[in-house]
Amino acid sequence: MGRSGHRPSPDGRSRSPQPAPGSERGAERCANDGGERRMIDIASPEIGQAERDAVDAVLESGMLADGPEVRSFEEEFAAYCGVAHGVATSNGTTALHAALEAVGVGEGDVVVTSPFSFVASANAIRLAGATPVFVDIDPETYNVDPDALEALLAERDDVTAVVPVHLYGLAADMPRIVELAEQYDLKVVEDACQAHGAEIDGRRVGSFGDAACFSFYPTKNMTTGEGGMVVTDDEAVAAAAASYINHGRESGPGGGYEHASLGHNFRMTSIAAAIGRAQLEKLPRFNERRRQNAARLTERLEDAPVETPVEPEGYTHVYHQYTVRTDDREALQAALEERGVGSGVYYPKPINRQPAYLDGEFGGDCPEADRAAEETLSLPVHPALTEEEVEAVADAVRAATEVTADV
Ligand SMILES: Cc1ncc(COP(=O)(O)O)c(C=O)c1O
Repeated sequence: MGRSGHRPSPDGRSRSPQPAPGSERGAERCANDGGERRMIDIASPEIGQAERDAVDAVLESGMLADGPEVRSFEEEFAAYCGVAHGVATSNGTTALHAALEAVGVGEGDVVVTSPFSFVASANAIRLAGATPVFVDIDPETYNVDPDALEALLAERDDVTAVVPVHLYGLAADMPRIVELAEQYDLKVVEDACQAHGAEIDGRRVGSFGDAACFSFYPTKNMTTGEGGMVVTDDEAVAAAAASYINHGRESGPGGGYEHASLGHNFRMTSIAAAIGRAQLEKLPRFNERRRQNAARLTERLEDAPVETPVEPEGYTHVYHQYTVRTDDREALQAALEERGVGSGVYYPKPINRQPAYLDGEFGGDCPEADRAAEETLSLPVHPALTEEEVEAVADAVRAATEVTADV
């Protein structure tokens, strides 16, 4: 699995996903009390009647694949991000792949990204034919360290693009990254797969780069089952992405059988788009709940021996994950599990340490990413948590770390 949050079982609603060693614990039922007590899940998609009705309407219409529902979702999601165009895709990885192709990244290009992310951030760069190079992260935000990026750009002259990742729901330092991109003439493709609605000074992620990409995987802040979206203000980039995800057709779906270039079928279905439109309406409420849950956890964990997440001045964190740093993660995770609280490790191995990235062409050491991979643990923060469950998560961390005073 290795992505942020559990993978629900095939019915998409089960709270009993397959656990993966050391990462996705806590999503199964607790057996030690006769199976009655539920674990507090690390993630739990909220699907309601609006999504069911929207899917029914699509099924009735008979337009199951690409169609008007997808066009409406693209328009609405792009507007939410504050940009002109959206191109819906089959998932976040294909969105990244298509966006990179659309901004002109390809064979021979070198693209800087974060090593502390889901592997898709770098895989998409390689799938577009380019070479990812990793730059270390800031230990407080877990996002690309702009000073390290500046040093790397001063050192090498072959970098053509940057893919900043807005990890855990917190925007990367886009003002500095965009400034450096202008200085070094780089394309910027934001990996916003974990950050729907995150802001810097009131401006939403998705609106800073030449293009930006989102994932709608079930654990994300909003879902379509599987799904993704490229957003951009640039009409030519949008047209190129729309063509690339549709076998290189020039004029999009229904545009006949003229294929101007090579492409894929990375299209979103109308069923997914219908779910997405219903979820998008709920996204502001979902994010507000995440922020409230995070604020309460931070308040209750103030005197616990864990580092709680930071929200820099002017930033709006949307807490895709609520991630603490601890010097004994294994013990904390085991103690939480004991108390019925799920947790997750995102990510236990930086991308530059993955077997598929070990041949040395992808850049040097990233010690802060290594340290984060060893010390971070994500706690439940999702909007389906009750107030009691948020308190129970905080109580469990306090008890596990032996904080006895009441807060
Ligand atoms: C940071 C990041 N990038 C890319 C992706 C890829 O998205 P998807 O799983 O929808 O392909 C994910 C999803 O897990 C992600 O978290």
